[in-house]
Amino acid sequence: MATFSCSSTLLLFPTFLLLILLCFSPTNQIKNLSIPFPSFFTTFTNENSNPSPSPSIPSHNVVSKKKSSSERVEADLASARAAIQKAIRTRNYTSDKEETFIPRGCMYRNAYAFHQSHIEMVKRFKIWAYKEGERPLLHNGPMKDIYAIEGQFIDEIDNGKSPFMAQHPNEAHVFFLPVSVGHIVHYIYLPITTYDRERLVRIFTDSIKVVANKYPYWNRTRGADHFMLSCHDWAPEVSMRDPVLYKNLIRVLCNANSSEGFNPQRDVTLPELNLPPRGLSQRKFSQAPDKRTILAFFAGGAHGNIRKILLQHWKGKDDEVQVHEYLPKGQDYNKLMGRSKFCLCPSGFEVASPRLVESFYAGCVPVIISDNYVLPFSDVLDWSKFSMQIPVEKIPEIKTILQSIPENEYLEMRKRVLKLRRHFQLNRPAKPFDILHMVLHSIWLRRLNLRLED
Ligand SMILES: *[C@@H]1O[C@H](CO)[C@@H](O)[C@H](O)[C@H]1NC(C)=O
Ligand SMILES: *[C@@H]1O[C@H](CO)[C@@H](O)[C@H](O)[C@H]1NC(C)=O
Ligand SMILES: *[C@@H]1O[C@H](CO)[C@@H](O)[C@H](O)[C@H]1NC(C)=O
Ligand SMILES: *[C@@H]1O[C@H](CO)[C@@H](O)[C@H](O)[C@H]1NC(C)=O
Repeated sequence: MATFSCSSTLLLFPTFLLLILLCFSPTNQIKNLSIPFPSFFTTFTNENSNPSPSPSIPSHNVVSKKKSSSERVEADLASARAAIQKAIRTRNYTSDKEETFIPRGCMYRNAYAFHQSHIEMVKRFKIWAYKEGERPLLHNGPMKDIYAIEGQFIDEIDNGKSPFMAQHPNEAHVFFLPVSVGHIVHYIYLPITTYDRERLVRIFTDSIKVVANKYPYWNRTRGADHFMLSCHDWAPEVSMRDPVLYKNLIRVLCNANSSEGFNPQRDVTLPELNLPPRGLSQRKFSQAPDKRTILAFFAGGAHGNIRKILLQHWKGKDDEVQVHEYLPKGQDYNKLMGRSKFCLCPSGFEVASPRLVESFYAGCVPVIISDNYVLPFSDVLDWSKFSMQIPVEKIPEIKTILQSIPENEYLEMRKRVLKLRRHFQLNRPAKPFDILHMVLHSIWLRRLNLRLED
């Protein structure tokens, strides 16, 4: 530990924001979340309680000079924290602008905290995307199909037009390593002749070493204010070979498997989104509740164990629980989702499923069937209020479980799904409260939990 030479100390607000959003979670849960959040979120101290600095890191900058850039950044974050605390206290928001959307309702763990936090993010959040490295492995990524969110996010933040882009790294709150695991696999591994991840890991690790040698920022926090983002299944493996180098890096991943080192306090779940080559369909297939004649729907390949079990029990067995491996010719996937009350979202080869996002588009209540999946935006959203969680061992009971839900409870959940749809919509450029803003907000929250000191 003492071998690290740092110009600043890194303080954790063990309690600050994730906590604020989590601890206001109402208690009348309908279903369980996959991941019980760690218990340290349940104590609250505010930032005036002065967390003690890490003892092993000496402070070299005793002589005070004019306000350094990192002091300015920290002062900015302190104002944001204060505004959020005020919003919680007053149960209202403060904004310089007219607010077009005001999140309210029990689907939010704390709607006031979230709203203010989002306002503060839009107002202040600055990201420095490192310029080093070349396309196509860096600075862009897959823009369509199952990994689309990776390329769309990289492009949004790195194309020079985002209002979140810092003009200079000194004004940045966080630093982005715009390396695309999706593109590395596409350009270097396809067609697959080896599953050895050595080259992937080397490209990624080298890109960190380049910026850590060239700039002071990585060493300053040992990566804690840096993030990577990828939707590819292999992305979590990048950081497994060198746990020391990757100890603090914020990893924004679709493959958010808490059994494989995904840590919801540091990492962020990236929702998976299947973007067709022609772009998202503007046509809405979402039907009114009385037109939803299918109780539960799934169509997809037998990828992974959970889907195998699901198909084994339900494929072609029941008219109300429609489970298909391949849809019969002439049937439309989106229309069927729009006519279903519940949409089954089982894990496949990895924990995430694009069906989660599709459920919101289709106005269908998602039924999550997964182990160890940390659900997207869980800091902000209380998934038990608008989704069902069915454990893998209860797959045979899907029909009885869903049938036993009282109609009014179903209608409430559906209404909330529709209200939350905006958080899963992709816009380019991104718009407040949409899916890209929500991902940014998750990163913003993790940065609010840190404080750097000169
Ligand atoms: C929810 O989780 C708790 C504790 O993990 C358990 O006791 C309870 O039975 C679960 N409820 C349901 C509906 O699965
Ligand atoms: C909440 O704040 C907004 C804007 O600051 C204000 O217009 C509104 O009247 C406030 N609402 C309440 C209930 O205080
Ligand atoms: C950051 O730390 C690494 C490893 O200790 C070192 O090689 C590198 O020179 C440092 N970077 C800067 C900019 O000082
Ligand atoms: C999640 O990780 C565990 C532990 O490695 C693994 O057994 C499981 O298959 C993973 N889940 C999925 C859906 O890949």
